[in-house]
Formats: sequence, structure tokens, C-alpha cells
Amino acid sequence: MRTRNLQRALVLGIETSCDETGIGIVRGTELLANVIASSMDEHARYGGVVPEIAARAHLEALTPTIEEALRVAGVRLADLDAVAVTSGPGLAGALMVGVGAAKALAVATGKPFYAVNHLVGHVGADLLNHEPLVGEGELELPTIALLVSGGHTSLLLVRDLVSDVELLGETIDDAAGEAFDKVARLLGLPYPGGPEIDRAAAAGDPTAIRFPRGLTAPKDLERHRYDFSFSGLKTAVARHVEAAVAAGEPVPVADVAASFREAVVDVLLTKALAACRDLGVPRLLLGGGVVANRRLREAAVERCADAGVALRIPPLSLCTDNGAMIASLAAQLIAAGHPPSSLGVGADSTLPVTEIQA
Ligand code: KG4
Ligand code: ZN
Repeated sequence: MRTRNLQRALVLGIETSCDETGIGIVRGTELLANVIASSMDEHARYGGVVPEIAARAHLEALTPTIEEALRVAGVRLADLDAVAVTSGPGLAGALMVGVGAAKALAVATGKPFYAVNHLVGHVGADLLNHEPLVGEGELELPTIALLVSGGHTSLLLVRDLVSDVELLGETIDDAAGEAFDKVARLLGLPYPGGPEIDRAAAAGDPTAIRFPRGLTAPKDLERHRYDFSFSGLKTAVARHVEAAVAAGEPVPVADVAASFREAVVDVLLTKALAACRDLGVPRLLLGGGVVANRRLREAAVERCADAGVALRIPPLSLCTDNGAMIASLAAQLIAAGHPPSSLGVGADSTLPVTEIQA
């Protein structure tokens, strides 16, 4: 029998928590394949991710995407040390497809099954060998992590990737990416809204309209210091657009987009840097699809430099949802000697971040 080096386990990771079917293959911290099939186009006409459509798209995409990842990595199923999957948090039906597939694959091949936390996976992505988009060297801990996507907006304190992750705060209504998508819709821009708002904002004045910064008033900070809220901002944009239309004036799309984007970026960074300062952790990691926002990255670089905080941003291909981050986290769990998950573990749409492995 071949001896397995569990410090560098060969893991296939399956990610289906939202609209990306992501299959990644890693050997320890070495990235071998990161293949994504997205159902984004199928959601476009609805202006947001439709859970049933996402689940069905995962079912159709899984087998070809797994085959493609194995081909890219140049490995066979029999070579794997483990099969890993996101078991939560995320869309229940979408998660179920991935979890079912991972269990079937694990049982059929006789490999151990690891069910892991999607949010912690975003941090695990940064351990993979790559040139970070921003930052240098290896990920240092403890770090504050700000994860912003269409499905989540979470601020974490990561002391140890496999044993000690704390949720400091999260959105109490819309996720940041969702806010971009909804505001784009208000402005008559297509889905997904993030890139569209980025484009429209380039010609606008970010100081034209002072939109509200949710949960930053002193009384809100007492209860929600690290939590986010974007629904008031969305409503403020809607009122602004309605007022222009009622007055028979053209909607100032570029200024609204730039001012809205500035408000989101400001709140995200103000809260993340408050956490760095309060907790004495001079490191910030960004992850999630909203990191594709140019203004967010630019402001993060500036404000972290001013605050003496070391900023890290993995390459965008590892920031957006993907299977490699799930495989990477599982590889770390294996290296730390964690036993596999039970095959009785199911999808958990609200899996808490403290449950790094289900
Ligand atoms: O992580 P991600 O790919 O996965 C999901 O949440 O499904 O994030 C997608 C989200 C969408 O809401 C999209 O509008 C947002 O990220 N996004 C952006 C940008 N590019 C994508 N938000 C702001 N600015 C962007 N340039
Ligand atoms: Zn995500």
C-alpha cells in the first residue's frame, strides 16, 4: 500500500452554495485545478439568484465539471486522499446537491468525506500557492477577514484556520453584493449589478449624494459594532431615483452609482478597520465576489496603509466562490489530524462559522 503524506493530502473540493458549481483539486497548499461552471446567465432575467434554478444547474454541471477538474489536475479519482464539500452556509437546495454528490463520490471511491464551512473556506483560499493580488509572503494569523459576496457579508476573527474562528458581525439584511444587484436594477442596469455599477460609477462623482452609512450611528454601534445593514441605503437610492423621475429630470445614474458605491465601501472598511484596531489585529484579509470592485480594493489599500494594517487580497479567481478553497480548508483539517465528517451530516444553510467542519 502506498503511504499517504497527510501533510499534503490530495483533496477534491465541491462548492455549490450559491450559483457557482466549483470543483477544485489541491495537494496540501498546491493548487492543481480550479474549475467553475456558473449559472449566473440563467438568473439574469430575474435580477438575482433563483435558488431552484441554481440547484438544477448544479445537478447538470457537477459531473462534467468534476471530469474537467480531474483532467486539468492530471489525477484520477483513485488517487484522491479525500472528498470535501461545502455543507453550509448557503442556499439549502444548492448545498444539498453538492453534499449529495460528495457523499456519493466518497462512498463509491472509498475515500474520507469532509464537510466544511463555506466562509472559513474563503480564508483557506489564501493558503494556496499564488501571488496575492495585494500583500506578500504567507498568510499570517490572527487576522481579521472581511468576506463580501452576493450571499454574505461577514467579518471574522481568524486565530486558527482549523480550530478557532469567531464571527464578529454580519449583515442583518442584504449582503453587500445583493445591494449592488438591487441598486443596479433600480438604475436600469443588468444583473449582476456589481460590475455594472463599477462601470457607471467611473463617470460619476462619489460625493454628489451623501447616502446613509448603515449601522454607524453611535446608538447602533453599541449593539451592532461589527454588523452591516444595506437595506436603508437601497431605499435611499430608490427614493432618489423616484424623486428625479417625479420631477421629470433624468436620473443621474453615474453620480448615484458612484455615491452608492462609496457608501458601501466606506461602511465595509470602517467596520473592518475598527475590528483591527479594537482587537489589536493589524492584518486584514478580503474575500468574496465583491472584492472585484475596483473602488473597494483601491480604498482598502489606502485606508489600511493609513491605519498600519497589512492588507491581503487573493487573486480574484480565488476570491469568488470556488471549489479550491473548500479543498484547501479540508487539506488543512487533514494535516491537523481531524477525522472525516460523518456521512450523516447534511446541508445546513445557516451553519455557524464556529463550525469549521460539520
Ligand atoms: O462571490 P460571488 O461570485 O458569489 C456569489 O455570491 O454568488 O459574488 C457575486 C456577487 C454579486 O452580487 C455581484 O454583483 C458582486 O459579487 N460583484 C461585485 C462586482 N463584481 C461582482 N460587486 C461590486 N463590484 C464589482 N465589481
Ligand atoms: Zn462565498
